[in-house]
Amino acid sequence: MVSYTVQPGMFIERVLSIEIVRVTERAAVSAARLRGRGDEKAADQAAVDAMRRELNNLPIDGTVVIGEGERDEAPMLFIGENVGNKKGPKVDIAVDPLEGTTLCAKNMEGSIAVMAMAEGGTLLNAPDVYMEKIAVGPGYPKNVVDLDAPVEENMRTLAKAKGVKPEELTALILDRPRHAEIIAAVRKLGAAVRLITDGDVAGVIHTADPANTGVDIYMGIGGAPEGVLAAAALRCIGGQMQGRLILDTDEKRTRAAKMGVSDPKKKYDMKDMVRGDCLVAATGVTTGSFLRGVRFEKDRILTHTVVMRSVTGTVRWIDAEHRQFEKFHLD
Ligand code: FBP
Repeated sequence: MVSYTVQPGMFIERVLSIEIVRVTERAAVSAARLRGRGDEKAADQAAVDAMRRELNNLPIDGTVVIGEGERDEAPMLFIGENVGNKKGPKVDIAVDPLEGTTLCAKNMEGSIAVMAMAEGGTLLNAPDVYMEKIAVGPGYPKNVVDLDAPVEENMRTLAKAKGVKPEELTALILDRPRHAEIIAAVRKLGAAVRLITDGDVAGVIHTADPANTGVDIYMGIGGAPEGVLAAAALRCIGGQMQGRLILDTDEKRTRAAKMGVSDPKKKYDMKDMVRGDCLVAATGVTTGSFLRGVRFEKDRILTHTVVMRSVTGTVRWIDAEHRQFEKFHLD
């Protein structure tokens, strides 16, 4: 097992970026064994077990700040759980062992295993509530879009900044009745909507590479934990994101306050959600438009992972062939 000497002020070790790949790979393989079985819980549990086991092998003193839920509702990877072998830096951990449980259970495109690691105390501790989100890719002036501006205004400003007509933009939106107005406003402008049934971490990441994904902007309401993970990814690859927790009951406001949220209406930008340097890894469970799913062959298991590092902006795509099956048979 690896261990590090941590120098004062030292940022998360570069080598950890390869270590976290193992974590998402194992979670993805475990979930992939249950693809298309119609059992969301079983697939999620398999991913959680595998991810937790791997996290505990890492040379870190980690605290889960975005996890499977709050301590009383999640036995594993709960918010506040300590992970790692304690022989390394203090880090915040955000996990979604199976992002898109329904996609996996139905064997549909786009489920992933994803995690972020950041310097201790730098990730927003978001409760498991909804979050309003807006995100665009890199290369635009700061605050080119705003969570509180009307859809039409955001689309027009973005089009102008991109040097195209609004009709040439595509907005990616979760297909939910709550988004009817946003969808109608985008279409009214003559712009395109791409609907996804689930998986808005990947949805936000699509905005970072419009030339290849065809997606210019992400808008709508999704999970807050997914929002923080997406913000971490955009912080690495470039882009802008804003989010606001939806704390519409006293119970949610109290829960959020316990997690340090003093202003329940705060509009967070990317750097409020991820205040320090971070690493993000995601492995495909089912094939989607940015990652291939796990493939099982006679003598090997193939995985496809992206790993990103904010301090350098490096993005690595890793095609791995796993031959030590016994490691995966623990799952
Ligand atoms: P799960 O993997 O937890 O099922 O989340 C999938 C997801 O689509 C997220 O990507 C998204 O943020 C959230 O659900 C949206 O929530 P809802 O399905 O309640 O609209």
